[in-house]
This record gives sequence, C-alpha cells and structure tokens, in this order.
Amino acid sequence: MFNVYLPLFLSFFSHLADGRLNTGHAGVLLAERRGSYPLIDLRILKSNAQQGEVETGTRRKVKRLLSFQRYCHASRLLRGLVSHSPGSLHLLDDDYLGQAAHMLSKVGTWNFDIFLFDRLTNGNSLVTLMCHLFNVYDLIHHFQLDMVKLNRFLGMVQEDYHSQNPYHNAVHAADVTQAMYCYLKEPKLAEHLSPLDIFLGLMAAAAHDVDHPGVNQPFLIKTRHHLASLYQNTSVLESHHWRSTVGMLRESGLLSHLPADMSQDIEQRLGSLILATDINRQNEFLMTFREHLDNQDLDLQLSSHRHFILQIALKCADVCNPCRVWELSRQWSERVCEEFYRQGDLERRFDLEISPLCNQQADSIPAIQIGFISYIVEPLFEEWHRFTEPSLLSQTMLDHLHKNKANWGSLRCAHTPSDTQSCSQAEEPEGGVGEGADIS
Ligand SMILES: *[C@@H]1O[C@H](CO)[C@@H](O)[C@H](O)[C@H]1NC(C)=O
Ligand SMILES: [Zn+2]
Repeated sequence: MFNVYLPLFLSFFSHLADGRLNTGHAGVLLAERRGSYPLIDLRILKSNAQQGEVETGTRRKVKRLLSFQRYCHASRLLRGLVSHSPGSLHLLDDDYLGQAAHMLSKVGTWNFDIFLFDRLTNGNSLVTLMCHLFNVYDLIHHFQLDMVKLNRFLGMVQEDYHSQNPYHNAVHAADVTQAMYCYLKEPKLAEHLSPLDIFLGLMAAAAHDVDHPGVNQPFLIKTRHHLASLYQNTSVLESHHWRSTVGMLRESGLLSHLPADMSQDIEQRLGSLILATDINRQNEFLMTFREHLDNQDLDLQLSSHRHFILQIALKCADVCNPCRVWELSRQWSERVCEEFYRQGDLERRFDLEISPLCNQQADSIPAIQIGFISYIVEPLFEEWHRFTEPSLLSQTMLDHLHKNKANWGSLRCAHTPSDTQSCSQAEEPEGGVGEGADIS
C-alpha cells in the first residue's frame, strides 16, 4: 500500500531541492505570498535584548526588526535546508512507512494519533494525509489534477507552516484536516456533499493557519506589523493565511486548467472558510447556527447552506483539541499554552503589555483550558451535536470534552491547593477567553 506514497515523498523532496535552486524565479505571484512573510524571529530579538541596550533603543529596534523582511527571507530558505536536506531521506525507513500506511487505513477514527503519524512520516504528516484523502475521494481524477502540481502545492503549504511554533505548525494543520475528514463523513452531511465541497473542506483545513507567526492579532497590531495595516486590524492572521494559500495555488498552477470563473470561485470560497476560523467571529457563527437548528431550516440541497456547514465544521475541527482522548488533548493544551507564554515572554522583554492568557506566572494551563472549553468549545460542540444527531462521533467528542474539563479542574486544584476559590468555581474561570485570546 505504501508504494503509492513513496513517489509522492520523492517528488516532495525534489520539489524542495528545485525550490532552492529556483528562488530567482520569484515573480509577481511569489511576492504576494513571500513578500509578506511574517516571521517573528526570537533569536534575533533575544540577542539584541541581551546586549543590554537602553530601554527606548530596544523598543525602537523591535519595531524595526519585526518588519525586517530581508532577514526573514533568508531564514525561510534556511528552514527548508535544515529540516529537509536530501540526507534525511534515509530516515524514511520502510518499517516506518509501513506503519504510517497502516495508520492511514484508520484515518477516519477519532483517536487517530497525529503526533505518531507525523513521526512515522518524518514530519510529512500534512502532505501524506492530504494525498491519501484526495485518493480516498478520487479528487485527483474528478478535478483532473496534475499530481506534480498537487505535490508542489501541498509541499509549499506544509513548508510554510513554522515548525518552530509549539502549536501553530503543520501538525496542527494535519490534525485539523483529519478532524475535518471525520466531520465530512458524518451521515447527516456526507450524502449531500459534492466533490467540490469536499475539495474545499480539505484544502481549507490544510491551509487554514499557513505561515502563522506564533503570535496573535493584538500582538501584530501593537507592534505595528505590516500585516496589521495591510488588513486594517481585522482578521489579520486569517486574511494572511487565505492570501498565502491563494498565492501558492497560483504559483503551483494547481487550478490553472480549470475555467477562470471556477478557480475564482474556489479562491473565494476558500477565503470564506478560512476567515470563519477567526475566533473573534465565534458568536456570529454560533448564533446563526443555533437559529438554523431552532428553525430546522437547513437545506443541504442548497450550496449556500452546505457552505455554511463547512464553515462550522472547519471551526469545530480547529478547536476540537479538548474533544480528543485525554493523552492527545493534553499535549495540544501544553503546546498552545507554550506558544502563548512565548508571546508573553516576548512582550515582557520588550516592555509591551502582556496579553491575556500569555502570562506564565498568572495564567495556568488548567485555567486557560477550562476557560477555552467553557466559552468556546462546549457551546459550539453542543450545537454540532444537535446538527449531527444521532452521531456516535459527536457523543464520543462530548464525552471526552466533559472528562477532559474535569481533569483540568482537578489539576487546577492540585496546583493551587490554597486557592480554594478557583477550585470551587471551575465552571466560571476568571478572565475567560475574550478579545485578544486567539486560541485557534
Ligand atoms: C490599527 O490599530 C492601530 C493601533 O491601535 C491604530 O493606530 C491604527 O490606526 C489601526 N488601523 C486601522 C486601519 O484601524
Ligand atoms: Zn488553527
């Protein structure tokens, strides 16, 4: 079975090799994506801070460095060289590949271990998973996709996730894609979905956080990052993920054989899906969803209604970590909090106000998770449960969610034995998840 994937790996690696040689080909389309590369480089900030500059000098320097494009470009190339040198091919041991292929035969199960899958595929979980799912749905044949272009596109997407982010990296994207696949299979939804719906759902999941800088929107706004002004302080990250995806679609030529109006429609719908993951728009989507369910007026024969459900499904997939089995869920929690804390450390070091949830001393992992579950995840999955009913998966997810919340509750008490108030009020954590808490 694995023989199907080996050529994909090889062409993936050769794509990277080509990419290094051909960076001079960067045309207009490249500029759209790569010119706005928002890497926040901790090493370069650190070394400046350690040189003990006077306060104001340091602050001025941060602003300059945060938009230092030339350095970022070099760093981007370096990332490709370090993590995917041809020498790492020997790591693609037959035994690992066999195990990865075996895992793919169970890709639709909710306890799928994406961390293990990523190790077995040598860090290529996103590309491998997407290729597999495109085959499962026969999308390559249906859309007459060119395999070389498809691999080039997927390789670019995976590569443009920042592997140094504890949370917003390609493994998160693969995890969201796997969850999305599980939701696309829900009986209530599956029979109505067109190949285009499935294509869009998987593509949006895979690309929804691409090139995420590891800091949230308020951070980009207050450091006057050029992306914040480009997107006028609104859905800054999500807009960037979408426009980056469009750039990569055009650069790879994946859709170039389709009629112009169709590829334009795909780009627009991808945007509408990716922008729906902006957590600041959570209530807007939740209320509309609730209204539809109350009125029982969803008609999945309508393309617009199916699109809305795809938006909801992607939102669910994006925040489904607390609905996974505890051992996986806990790892995601630690990762996302580590990313918050790193932002907090950065803010502290440069005398910026520390963002909500980003203060390691004040915001414990259990407290952050309980807030996230209570305000974001539970309300959304309760409605998803209503929509999918009767669904074994939704019941399983809610069971995990309640267990995990209880686990965090007892961990919080264990960590703060003197703070009885926070123990007894596990349902209502102080300083919950609001503006600026960009969890997804
Ligand atoms: C974005 O926010 C910054 C900082 O609050 C502000 O100075 C700027 O005017 C805002 N830009 C837009 C387009 O709202
Ligand atoms: Zn995400």
